[in-house]
Amino acid sequence: MKYVKAIYPGTFDPLTNGHLDLIERGSKIVDQLVVAILRNSDKGVPLFTVAERQEMISEAIVASGFANVSVMTFDGLLVEFAHSQGAKAVLRGIRAITDYEYEFPMAMMNRKLDPNLETLFMMPTEQYTYVSSRLIKGVFKLGGDVSGLVPPLVMRRMTAKATKKV
Ligand code: PNS
Repeated sequence: MKYVKAIYPGTFDPLTNGHLDLIERGSKIVDQLVVAILRNSDKGVPLFTVAERQEMISEAIVASGFANVSVMTFDGLLVEFAHSQGAKAVLRGIRAITDYEYEFPMAMMNRKLDPNLETLFMMPTEQYTYVSSRLIKGVFKLGGDVSGLVPPLVMRRMTAKATKKV
């Protein structure tokens, strides 16, 4: 039997129920799944620090009872991080065709950089196909209700952050 370790990389600012759904699906088909938060993201000013995101993901993993999932952070090339972890695969979520356009070049570039690293795509449950961290942050900032779209522990942290600002 082959032992398969996979990396689930992303920004996770913040972790959504869509991410959690993908973690659950991924954890069922690989032996070990490492959720990897990119430290040097160029996505602008983050809502949560990398440390806060790592803490929330760790708590969510424990709360969900995923025994073969861990969380780490990384910088630089994903293929190098995957190699350093002995991972054979990268897990990514695809919600709609627009995701495919974003994901395809990244998967091909990663294949060019490391032909031995496979990218696995999985689709989250239909109920979260429209959920993204960007949309969650935008709606929440405008006072919209995003409960049910992020784990309760993320919701609490978002609310606490918003309350502190006032
Ligand atoms: O959740 P995101 O922000 O869409 O995740 C993007 C991520 C982290 C997967 C991607 O930006 C990445 O892998 N960055 C690391 C740098 C790298 O390896 N670049 C070359 C592959 S395109």
